[in-house]
Amino acid sequence: MSDTIGTVLITEEQIHARAKEIGKEIERDYAGKEIILVGILRGAVLWMADVMRNTNLDMTIDFMAVSSYGAATKSSGIVKINKDLESDIEGKDIIIVEDIVDSGVTLHYLEGYLMSRGAASVKLCSLLDKPEGRRVDIKADYVGFTVDDRFIVGYGLDYDQKYRNLPYITWLESE
Ligand code: IMP
Ligand code: MG
Repeated sequence: MSDTIGTVLITEEQIHARAKEIGKEIERDYAGKEIILVGILRGAVLWMADVMRNTNLDMTIDFMAVSSYGAATKSSGIVKINKDLESDIEGKDIIIVEDIVDSGVTLHYLEGYLMSRGAASVKLCSLLDKPEGRRVDIKADYVGFTVDDRFIVGYGLDYDQKYRNLPYITWLESE
């Protein structure tokens, strides 16, 4: 099987413009509060950098790494924590920053996990949303773009760890 990438679906300029809008929304929603952005490694790194530099609030950042996929393109439904938080989140307002919500299994699990560690609130900010893939009832509070049910790569999103560095969003075509 060989894979080729499709044409550009979402440009870097579109992503930057959306990050600005979402940053302003977060500023309004959390005015006067201090937040913790929790980036989910590794896919969220580029998007997280865009959102944080466009959000003018007191904030700290932290990261978690979880896996549910391996090298396959369909979720196993099992979430494993590979790297946990380093901050104390007790009583804190958290925004999880993700690359994409597909089945929703990862974010559903993470939301419960962070609440169980004593967070005051947990909201979700995802670069992409793929509503057709949904298997658990979860909705991201801040969504960059909605995409069709195909396998997306670029701007942090990978296939088998590759293509994360593409400065735009595209999809993978398998032949
Ligand atoms: P979920 O638990 O099914 O919502 O999947 C969340 C994770 O699966 C994301 O953080 C991605 O790492 C991965 N994922 C889901 N869909 C795609 C895709 O189209 N391209 C790349 N990774 C994806
Ligand atoms: Mg991921």
